[in-house]
Amino acid sequence: MTHKILVLPGDGIGPEIVAEAAKVLECLRQEHGLDAVLEYGLLGGCAVDELGAPYPEETRRQAHAADAILLGAVGGPRWEQIDRPLRPERGLLAIRADLELFANLRPALLYPQLAAASALKPEIVAGLDILIVRELNGDIYFGQPRGIRTLDSGEREGFNTMRYSEPEIERIARVAFEAARKRHRKLCSVDKANVLEASELWREVVGRVAREYPDVTLSHLYVDNAAMQLVRAPKQFDVIVTGNLFGDILSDCAAMLTGSIGMLPSASLDRQGKGLYEPIHGSAPDIAGKGVANPLATILSAAMLLRYSLNQPQLAGRIEEAVGRVLDRGLRTLDITASGMTPVGTQAMGDAVVAALME
Ligand code: IPM
Ligand code: MG
Repeated sequence: MTHKILVLPGDGIGPEIVAEAAKVLECLRQEHGLDAVLEYGLLGGCAVDELGAPYPEETRRQAHAADAILLGAVGGPRWEQIDRPLRPERGLLAIRADLELFANLRPALLYPQLAAASALKPEIVAGLDILIVRELNGDIYFGQPRGIRTLDSGEREGFNTMRYSEPEIERIARVAFEAARKRHRKLCSVDKANVLEASELWREVVGRVAREYPDVTLSHLYVDNAAMQLVRAPKQFDVIVTGNLFGDILSDCAAMLTGSIGMLPSASLDRQGKGLYEPIHGSAPDIAGKGVANPLATILSAAMLLRYSLNQPQLAGRIEEAVGRVLDRGLRTLDITASGMTPVGTQAMGDAVVAALME
């Protein structure tokens, strides 16, 4: 059966980095028997410009028909001032909600070749391999009521609602425990239970699910402490499970431990394993169109797509090995370059991965 992959390049550097990941998939198709077709669609600011909505009906149809989705990035200064429902980020949140992509897996893996690119000392990050499991359909991102209202006094206030139901916590906890089982059997749940009721329930429910996984060691941290521990001694972590907002913040922090946010892929999965795959960095409007963005996070996202949605672990492994070899050879984009190295551009990096795949 031919797999259908929907490709959504998005905005900013999105089209540039996605083009390189598409080259890699095309190479696997021609040389290594990948049975897939790529179809293209619009999400984010480009969709607003062309079709008047950040997650248009046409994209919605394509997304439901696809077996997996590869996304670049959305957003940029051009769309920051438009009506809130039309903002590109709303398109991303809408597709995550519409497809019920509740489990966001964000591995933070340090390639040994890049230890010097980390903001932390090499001995603190060498061998780092963390998986952040971020809940993606709930929390203050989606809780109602929300808005900006004018009070009787005439002053305005902005408000949002942090909310988690027991089933929502249970299902993400199970994903995290299962993932921990396949790794080093350590799970750290991150919340703010000393202040927030939503977190109090989170902690209780995660603790209850833990009884089904006696082989996994569960610990709990408050999010402020977790942020500190991530930069103090990140190797203490194996799998981290947390809510939508805390996961957003901690995953950027974990990314930087690995040298560059330009290296980290992610998967957002539904109950059946259908998923949307995207680099965790944004659309980087400041470097868009310059041909200098790092395509590796997107290429590695394509590898996750093959592993989780297309059940092709060998092909996924091939991509990951090819990326390792390219780094071994000293190829570096601007974000991961070290002194004495000449950075290569986006296309040259993509071409090098394709060349390594053909070896
Ligand atoms: C991410 C991004 C998004 C989020 C934005 C672009 C809406 O920061 O995927 O981490 O906050 O989830
Ligand atoms: Mg983020």
